[in-house]
Amino acid sequence: MQRTKVKDLLQGAEVDKEVLLKGWVRTKRGNKFVNFIAVNDGSTINNLQVVADAEKFSEETLKDVTTGAAIAVTGTLVASQGKGQAYEVQASSIEVLGKADPETYPLQKKAHSLEFLREIAHLRFRTNTFGAVFRVRNAMAFAVHKFFNENGFVYVHTPIITASDAEGAGEMFQVTTMDLNNPPRTEDGNINFEEDFFGRSTNLTVSGQMEGEVAAMALSDIYTFGPTFRAENSNTTRHLAEFWMIEPEMAFYDLKMNADLAEEFIKYIIRYALENNREDIEFLAQRQAEEDKSKPQNERQEMTLIEKLEFVVNNDFERITYTEAIDILLNSNHYKKKKFQFDVKWGVDLQSEHERYLVEKHFKKPVIVMDYPKDIKSFYMRQNDDGKTVAAMDILAPGIGEIVGGSQREERMDILIERMKAVGINPDDMWWFLDTRRFGGCPHAGFGLGFERMVQFVTGMGNIRDVIPFPRTPQNAEF
Ligand code: 4AD
Ligand code: MG
Repeated sequence: MQRTKVKDLLQGAEVDKEVLLKGWVRTKRGNKFVNFIAVNDGSTINNLQVVADAEKFSEETLKDVTTGAAIAVTGTLVASQGKGQAYEVQASSIEVLGKADPETYPLQKKAHSLEFLREIAHLRFRTNTFGAVFRVRNAMAFAVHKFFNENGFVYVHTPIITASDAEGAGEMFQVTTMDLNNPPRTEDGNINFEEDFFGRSTNLTVSGQMEGEVAAMALSDIYTFGPTFRAENSNTTRHLAEFWMIEPEMAFYDLKMNADLAEEFIKYIIRYALENNREDIEFLAQRQAEEDKSKPQNERQEMTLIEKLEFVVNNDFERITYTEAIDILLNSNHYKKKKFQFDVKWGVDLQSEHERYLVEKHFKKPVIVMDYPKDIKSFYMRQNDDGKTVAAMDILAPGIGEIVGGSQREERMDILIERMKAVGINPDDMWWFLDTRRFGGCPHAGFGLGFERMVQFVTGMGNIRDVIPFPRTPQNAEF
């Protein structure tokens, strides 16, 4: 007999027929006459109630049906007489496929803190919260591919091991097969990377952009979607050492077209999740509302999660220049009352407190900030005619801060080389990148969306470690 998933059973597939279901016991309760077993198989946030009459099943048979155990049940799917579910299964046989000792199984009925669940990340998939988060994450990943596919973009797999530092930030993980206790050395005592696996020093990629740009110079519209690695020692609720990034790159696009695409893309993903994962998001909205009750008034959300998502989908993002952003900050009461920890003046990078003031207090919606000072942005961004700024754009989201970083790229060879030298990159090392400017270069643009930050935004989860199955952060690579 073929197994039917709980999601389908709850939608009334095969009513009054014999069905086979398999899943994990969430709870068991009962009395002398009957036992009620809530079974979940991950296909939906909802459990299916299995009714086991005491006259058919002895206490002996049911003793291993405990929270966490894997079971297979055959029985009849019937309309439920009880409250809370439309259908239930009247069991005719129950087989315990895998026991879960109640003395040691860590996930008992009571609610567990997210911190505790992080320590048992291998089991947290089995909670309502993480089931919902990872189903939503899945839907969003699918929506990413769907959006680009519908818009004629080519999915390009860029390398994970690379010899270049796209962002020029230098926060990279080294990849080597050398014996660290006894690395080969050159005559002057330096480590000899010529003897390393690739014959040169290599790292895990911080971005697929460089290779993406190369591909866009032939395929026009491309995107990458893969893991990226940053060895920055940031212990925040928005940083991971290993995160997933989506990076589209478009030939013949300028900054405005780039911003328009990013806005349309973000709205598309949110809309897709709202339409396809409604129950999960409703659950997460309720979770967030509960969590809010324990927070001081000024830290609580003004809108429910669903209201916030619908608001973002239905309203235009605000667009301002960096210079305007600085003016808004300087004129704010917040600034006048000296409430910002970091200095505000033209030329400094916006800190997350500034970004959050702009989106959460001032505009109360996502904001696209454009035209940043060139000295705080990457070498590859196109210089504006003012000589001081570059055609960069960051998208800032309420509750998250920076969610997208992108730019129009510098397609003019001489200016690009000048910028490389200014930031200490040897143009010879990037000969293949420069070839795209040398041969048939053209205006182009692209951006990177941090996938986990986007999942945080849609699920309302406060900590980025709770939206990726196995987070990698400083001092932490368990599992
Ligand atoms: O702003 P970033 O560094 O931009 C780039 O990497 C460009 N190469 C993108 C491009 O133009 N193709 O990173 C892009 C986004 C950020 O806005 C943020 O959402 C996310 O990636 N991000 C991180 N997410 C989690 N943990 C980290 N340590 C992150 N660093 C960046
Ligand atoms: Mg950035």
